[in-house]
Amino acid sequence: MNFKPVQILSVGMSVPETVITNDDLTKILDTSDEWISTRTGIKQRHIANGDENSTLFGIKAAQDALNKAGMNGEAVDAIIAASSNPYNIYPSTGCAIQDAIGAKNAIAFDITVACTGMIYALELGRSLIATGKYKNVLLVATDTNSKFLDWSDRGSCVLFGDGAGAILITESQDGIDDIIALNINANGSMGKFIAMNLIGENCPLVDPATEGCKKITMNGKEVYKFVVQTMPESIMTCLKDANLEPKDIDYLVPHQANLRIIEGLQNRLEFNDDKVIVNIDKYGNTSAASVPIALCEAIETGKIKTPSKAILCAFGAGMAWGSAVVRLREGLNQK
Ligand code: ACO
Repeated sequence: MNFKPVQILSVGMSVPETVITNDDLTKILDTSDEWISTRTGIKQRHIANGDENSTLFGIKAAQDALNKAGMNGEAVDAIIAASSNPYNIYPSTGCAIQDAIGAKNAIAFDITVACTGMIYALELGRSLIATGKYKNVLLVATDTNSKFLDWSDRGSCVLFGDGAGAILITESQDGIDDIIALNINANGSMGKFIAMNLIGENCPLVDPATEGCKKITMNGKEVYKFVVQTMPESIMTCLKDANLEPKDIDYLVPHQANLRIIEGLQNRLEFNDDKVIVNIDKYGNTSAASVPIALCEAIETGKIKTPSKAILCAFGAGMAWGSAVVRLREGLNQK
């Protein structure tokens, strides 16, 4: 497909201030820092307070991306918000962000692709730019998983954290495309392995007891098996489409779901530690926000140097998964 070239202008992020360590969790669960650290790589996670929500962090991450690009909200033409646990089903998180950042000229809408939300948003964002009708597109991924976790299920609640990330893209003026290749996938037959039901329990015909619960349920083993097979395939397809080999890539910015999965990808690509961005120890799995948070933080701490090429990849409920080979231009996030 012939896309108009896209430039990545900036990356923003926002996380709650409150931090919950593994040791904190031992006070409410039969678990240990040793189990969580060795199985997942997670040491702590940021968790939203009662009056904080996905919309709030989405707004902050969006504003951060705009500030870093030196752009005013009025210049934004479209906002795509990816969230699996939005504060409202409607008005959409996208519309709330539009209002808060003064993007009065922008269309705004939400997508639900769980942890793969930002990779799907990149595909949709570049498709909007390809039409020629939209120039500046703001992609925001925001999740407050903590509000939907089953805090009595030690197999899932220890894995997640809250936060938001944003990527601002625009039509490239120099003909160079920063989205070199992109590969997204879905397999609905795997849906039962990670789920969060939203039951309309107000109707007298609905018995909440038989309809399930509004809590995240996960079969970690099945997810793990699926991901270690499909994620490398997606990355390799993406590299092939980009006409590149692993050695041509400077960084892997993977979804921060489990350190073992990340290490498996690292081995497959034969990357040394310097090329793999890991911050799961600090944030846990922040769903769709995980990749942009990892990217933003790595650029700002100097772990990622520009200009460079990176693989972004994510997987999650759906199942949905995908990857992108992107160019990170010199000076990205330096304004
Ligand atoms: N603390 C202590 N023990 C625990 C904990 C805990 N937090 N959780 C589970 N255990 C116990 C289990 O009860 C079990 O005990 P048993 O052997 O006595 O029955 C034992 O540890 C092993 O449990 P498993 O579930 O088999 O552990 P596993 O090695 O599979 O690791 C994990 C679990 C970390 C969840 C892993 O399966 C995983 O990371 N899967 C992938 C999950 C993922 O990536 N999800 C991303 C998508 S999220 C989204 O899209 C919303």
